[in-house]
Amino acid sequence: MKALAVFPSNREVRLIDQPEPVIAGPTEVKLRILEAGICGTDREITSFQYGTPPVNSPHLVIGHEALGEVIEVGRGVTGLAHGDLAVLMVRRPCPHDICGPCRRGRQDFCITGDFTERGIKGAHGYMTEFVVDDERYMVKAPKELREVAVLLEPLTVGEKAAEQVRVLIQRLPGDLKNDPSQLNAIVLGAGPIGLLGAMKLMDEKFKTSVYSMDRADSPNVRIVSAIGARFVSSAEHPPADLGKMVGNISLVYEAAGAAKASFDLLSMLGVNGVFIFTGVPGIRAPIGIDAERIMRNVVLNNQVICGTVNAGRAAFEEGVRDLESFMRRFPAAVRALITARVALNDARDAVLTRGGIKSVITVA
Ligand code: BGC
Ligand code: ZN
Repeated sequence: MKALAVFPSNREVRLIDQPEPVIAGPTEVKLRILEAGICGTDREITSFQYGTPPVNSPHLVIGHEALGEVIEVGRGVTGLAHGDLAVLMVRRPCPHDICGPCRRGRQDFCITGDFTERGIKGAHGYMTEFVVDDERYMVKAPKELREVAVLLEPLTVGEKAAEQVRVLIQRLPGDLKNDPSQLNAIVLGAGPIGLLGAMKLMDEKFKTSVYSMDRADSPNVRIVSAIGARFVSSAEHPPADLGKMVGNISLVYEAAGAAKASFDLLSMLGVNGVFIFTGVPGIRAPIGIDAERIMRNVVLNNQVICGTVNAGRAAFEEGVRDLESFMRRFPAAVRALITARVALNDARDAVLTRGGIKSVITVA
């Protein structure tokens, strides 16, 4: 079967042929991959900034956002059946007994660092024709979500963030913690992670603004308007304007992966504010930040800075429910996130060129 792989040692990215995987245990499931999404992480991996092949493999098959159709199940599988649609989770637990999170299915909080991530770290990914894995790493997707379910994995970034915010917001006294409609949220960045996060925040009733450098007439900003969020152009307004424009900033959801823009915005975070980082920037020369102002604000305003890497099973399951809700509320906006569909034969070019919001590889 075909697969798109990177070879870090000779800096190559190409389609390879590799044996089709077979079911080897009773709780394993075989999927025919239907679609695989391309994200910033894939671009980092294919420019050799990030990513690690499996031990003893010269190459890594990329792809970690995938929708498949069940074509075979082991005899102990209970949650999936032939013909079902399923989305794959990314992280797999480390092998160590001392790791409580991994032993409890929360490998997104792994303490040893020996977790793997399919398509990213130490395990092959999903930009290929067939995948076999344990059913516990697959989440059933309703048939009605067929055309957008490939967005589930990137949505889980926002789902896990929302999970963290729910915990962090509990520190607020009184009714503030129960009423997001009194709280201003800023989404930094209008790529797929930002736009899906904005949909989630709108669904949770935060007063949501998306702050990005996109042009007001771009397809990204049209989606912002279509979901009823406010757009603020970072090309026209420096972060210092934001407080004046939206009021106290209670939540920032960072989805731009850019450190400078993020720390500039962090210095504008409001009273009792929470700042969630989701981006994984490339590591370049150190940059200057307004550290004294930030430290002062963090203390005097009870702020929380929280990083989140996705995601546990609950985030995927809540993502399914939310994607159904988004498809009821603003279906055209959800569909508009996918701006290109490309065959697996052309996956290399699609990964190596930028453009559009979310490109998806159509496999079957
Ligand atoms: C993936 C996550 C992964 C992270 C860091 C993201 O693009 O969606 O599953 O944990 O990269 O490797
Ligand atoms: Zn991704």
